[in-house]
Order: sequence, then C-alpha cells, then structure tokens
Amino acid sequence: MRLPTFLLRAGLLLQIGSGQVLGTDAHLLRHSQDHIDCPSGSRIQRELGPRLSGAASILAPSSPGWHQALVRATSPRINPAFVTSVEPATEQDVQETIKYSNHIGVPFLAVTGTHGWPTTLNDVQGGIQINMRRMNHIELNRDGKTATVGGGVMQHEIVRSLSEQGKMAVTGLCECVSVAGPLLGGGHSMLQGRRGFAADNLASARLVLANGSAVTVSAESSPDLFWAIRGAGHNFGIVTSLEVDVYDVEKTWTMIVLTFTQDKLEIYFSTWNRLEAEHTDVGLLVLNGIFARNPVLDSDHPLVNLQIFYEGENDVADKYTSAFFALGPVLNTTVKDIKYGDLYDVGGFGLTSPVCRKNENILGYPNSLDRWDPDAMRAGFDVFSDLTAPEKFATSAWLLESYGRKAVAAVPAAENAVAPEERSLHLLSSPILWWAGDDEQDRERAELYGKRMQEAVRRGNPALPHTYLNYAVGHEELPEVYGRDVARLAKLKRLKKMYDPNNRFGFYAPIR
Ligand SMILES: Cc1cc2nc3c(=O)[nH]c(=O)nc-3n(C[C@H](O)[C@H](O)[C@H](O)COP(=O)(O)OP(=O)(O)OC[C@H]3O[C@@H](n4cnc5c(N)ncnc54)[C@H](O)[C@@H]3O)c2cc1C
Ligand SMILES: *[C@@H]1O[C@H](CO)[C@@H](O)[C@H](O)[C@H]1NC(C)=O
Ligand SMILES: *[C@@H]1O[C@H](CO)[C@@H](O)[C@H](O)[C@H]1NC(C)=O
Repeated sequence: MRLPTFLLRAGLLLQIGSGQVLGTDAHLLRHSQDHIDCPSGSRIQRELGPRLSGAASILAPSSPGWHQALVRATSPRINPAFVTSVEPATEQDVQETIKYSNHIGVPFLAVTGTHGWPTTLNDVQGGIQINMRRMNHIELNRDGKTATVGGGVMQHEIVRSLSEQGKMAVTGLCECVSVAGPLLGGGHSMLQGRRGFAADNLASARLVLANGSAVTVSAESSPDLFWAIRGAGHNFGIVTSLEVDVYDVEKTWTMIVLTFTQDKLEIYFSTWNRLEAEHTDVGLLVLNGIFARNPVLDSDHPLVNLQIFYEGENDVADKYTSAFFALGPVLNTTVKDIKYGDLYDVGGFGLTSPVCRKNENILGYPNSLDRWDPDAMRAGFDVFSDLTAPEKFATSAWLLESYGRKAVAAVPAAENAVAPEERSLHLLSSPILWWAGDDEQDRERAELYGKRMQEAVRRGNPALPHTYLNYAVGHEELPEVYGRDVARLAKLKRLKKMYDPNNRFGFYAPIR
C-alpha cells in the first residue's frame, strides 16, 4: 500500500516540486576539474588502475561516464573537486587507493549516498572520489541476530533484503541515504524508540585506516576505535563492511498524516509538548512534523503538517492521534497495515520520492531541543514563510522530528562517541532548504534566512546549542556537535591524533 499519489502531488508531505529524480542535466553537474593537471586524473588512472582488482573501475575526467559518476544530491553548493573516481570492489581496492593517495599526496573522499551537506566537503580539491557503491553485499548471519553489509549499501537495499527475510535493521529514514553515513554520526530512525541510534546497533566493522591498513573493530578488537567510529566515524576510516544488529519484523505500522493551517501553530506545539510530558514511554511512535508549502490549501503561508507513525497497536499513539485530530486539521489521511518493508515508501521517503532527488542544493540549519517553544517556532516559521514565498525556495521543508527517547537514553553515554546531548535532546528542528542552480545571491539568501531561523529557535531555548552531527552546516565548533564534555573531546582528539595524524579524513565534522 502506498501513500495516495494525490497527497504527494498536492505536496501534503513535502511540497518539493516536480519530484524530478536523478537529473543528469550537464549544466547542473559540478564543474569537472579537467584543468588540474598535477597530478592529472589520467596519470592517476594509469598508475592506480593496475593495482585494483578486476571488478573495480577507475575513471578520469576524459572517461565516458565521468559526469554521471560525480552526480550528488547536494550539488552544486556542495562540490568536492575530484580528478579521479574509483569504484572499489574489495577492501584491498580501498587500501590500495588510500596508500596511493598518500604516496602522491592527494586527498580522497568516500562517497555512498551523496547526501552529505557540510561545507567542509568542499575542502576536497583535486581529490580521488572513492565511490563505495560496488561494495553492496548484504548477508543475514546464521544466528539471525546480525547482518553483515558492505560499506556502500544504501538504505533501500538493506530494507528490501532484510524485510524479505522477516528482519529489520536500524537505519535512517530516507531510502536514498547510505547505511554507513548516518550510522557513523549517530543515526536517527523509526526504530530508535526501542533500539537506540543506528550507531548503538553496530556489532563490528571492517575499517581501512588513514595509512591504508585494514582492521576489525568491535568490543574485543580495537575497542578504542570501535568507541570512536560509533558517533565520530567519518574521522577515522573508510568502512568496508558493517555488522549490524537485526530484529524480527513482527507487526505492521500505521501512518496518520494531518495538515493544519498556520494559525494552529502554537497549539500544535503546545499539544506536542503536553503529550510528551504526559507519556514518557511511548514505544515505537514517531512524530515527524513538517512546515511546507502547498498553494492549493494556502497560497500565502506554509502549512503545518504532522506524520504520526507507530508499530502495532499503541494506546499512547491513539491519545496522540485524537489530541491532534481535535485541533481541526484541514486534511487527514490514515494508512493502516503498512508492512515494514514498505514503510519508507509509503511515508514519502522512498527512493523515487522528492526528498531523494539529486542535483539540487541542500542546506540545513539544525537545533536539538527537549521541548518546543511555541513563540520561538512562530518567529522561525515567519522567516521560513518569507524565504519560501518565491518559487525558487518553495520546495524547502522544515523538519520537526521526534523519534523516541527511551532506548537512546538507556544506552550509557560512555558506550560510544555519540554526543550525550544527542541522547537527551530528543527533538530535531531543521529547516532544510532546497533550491536549484549556482546563483550566488540565492545561496546568500538561503544562508541568511537559514541563520535567522536557527537563531529564532535558539532564542526560545537558552541552553548552549547542540547540533546533530549529520545535519551540521559545517562551521560549528566541536563541542556543538560532539558534546561539551571536556574529557570526551580530549579523548576524541587523542584518538584522532593516533589514528589519523595527518587529518586525511578531514572533510566531515573533522576533529581538529
Ligand atoms: C534527504 C535526507 C534524509 C536524511 N535522513 C536521515 C535520517 O533519517 N537519519 C539520520 O540520522 N540522518 C539523515 N540524514 C542525514 C544523513 O545522515 C547524512 O546526510 C549522511 O551524511 C548521508 O550519508 P550518505 O552516504 O548518503 O552521503 P555521502 O555524502 O556519500 O557521505 C557522507 C559522509 O559519509 C562518508 N562516508 C560515506 N560512506 C562511507 C563509508 N563506507 N565509510 C566511511 N565514510 C563514509 C563520506 O565520506 C562523507 O563524509 C538525511 C539527509 C538527507 C539529505
Ligand atoms: C478526516 O478526513 C475526512 C475526509 O477524508 C473527513 O470526512 C473527516 O471529517 C476528517 N476528520 C477530521 C477530524 O478532520
Ligand atoms: C597503521 O596505523 C595503525 C594504527 O595507528 C598501526 O597500528 C599500524 O601499525 C599502521 N600500519 C603501518 C603499515 O604503518
């Protein structure tokens, strides 16, 4: 069963345009770096190519397929500049590529889902792209308790493969994002309320380090690295495979989608606060709020939407549902009996959904909170309304996410490198701005309005700000994403110095 297409078309979920996916328009692709000739892509291709396995591939700017190999979900704003693209097929290919990069002194970057958006990715200049997508094997292990998946597996692949075997793993929301990318920085998900973060569900991994050596990391093997990659993982290596916990699929899910006009904004947030205060243990209940435009329903302002997802029967979910219904939505839809394997597609996060389109700028301005301040959210909403009035930004969406608290709070903060603040501040507020093209003024406008929205939210929450690492803009100070505990930061820095002294993994929330 799918979300009725009229809902997507009417933009009830995310009013983000035509839903064009996988654009290949050459003018929107990143500028190729053909002009960098020291060392040139073709020289790297010539020298590194023979060291790779037969199943690997290596492209230079002159190769057929070069532009397609560089398509990102966050371009042109995020535009790491590559002279070569390698698609490793084996762990040894990854090792050879890193050793060779070190030898000739060029940067490299692993790429899987291409949704990463911190500006630090743009520090890659004249680099080697290591596109992990060929390493996409998925095996359910014999005890049925874990699965081993390649470092290049995407969420849609693991959801399909495991759900066909009656299993599920803790991954993200969007099917077009990788398994590794979210997990290495924490990983929020539908299963979080019962299972914790994706990072809390990693049993072991194979990791290629900055010097090209490959190690197994687990509670028994290199425990310090195992601690670090679960939360600060993008800093320590390229993951070639992950062993993740899996669970039996037992029940189907329900989704309720409600749309409110903006005059309900204050009561929407105060109702949400009240419900969360009254019901602390809510099981698998996910609230996914979205400010988004839908001119059919309101030509002047964005709408205030809410998706409620829950597994099986849930008395508390019923209380949430009736409380929000009582606010008088202008639209409501209920979809029952959703199989786990269809949940993301039905919810509007599937591979062909608008959120998964490529070749558009993505920019987020996140805050993690423990309650909504309705006045602050109103102030932010007004800025969002102004930003999205012109067509150019009208497909942006402000995400208001609550994935559940109990299981993440139950994991001791010392267990891994996920910031303790990430465990205690369960609400994620993130205007996500989408627009096309590389016009400088558009980008400046997005940044200006984005900062104003973030500041508005912060005015309502006087504690020192915390930002989810995987939503970070790129300019944050370390304590804002890794947590403010001094000993924790010192440990991260010590491990970074030990395992990556030359900051080869320095492009995504880099620890300096
Ligand atoms: C539409 C959308 C939906 C999202 N939904 C969620 C969500 O539900 N939950 C959540 O927690 N986050 C979510 N995020 C944020 C997401 O966690 C980050 O954007 C993440 O970086 C995406 O990873 P990627 O592989 O898709 O992107 P990429 O840009 O390919 O990679 C991101 C970073 O991970 C590194 N990386 C990729 N593969 C590997 C590997 N095998 N080994 C080591 N490093 C690797 C890259 O080098 C890069 O630094 C979402 C983002 C978007 C844009
Ligand atoms: C929900 O939507 C249906 C039409 O789809 C409508 O008949 C009903 O009144 C709505 N309920 C509320 C509480 O708005
Ligand atoms: C690579 O780095 C690891 C971790 O610091 C170290 O244990 C290993 O000996 C190094 N390997 C080589 C070949 O230098």
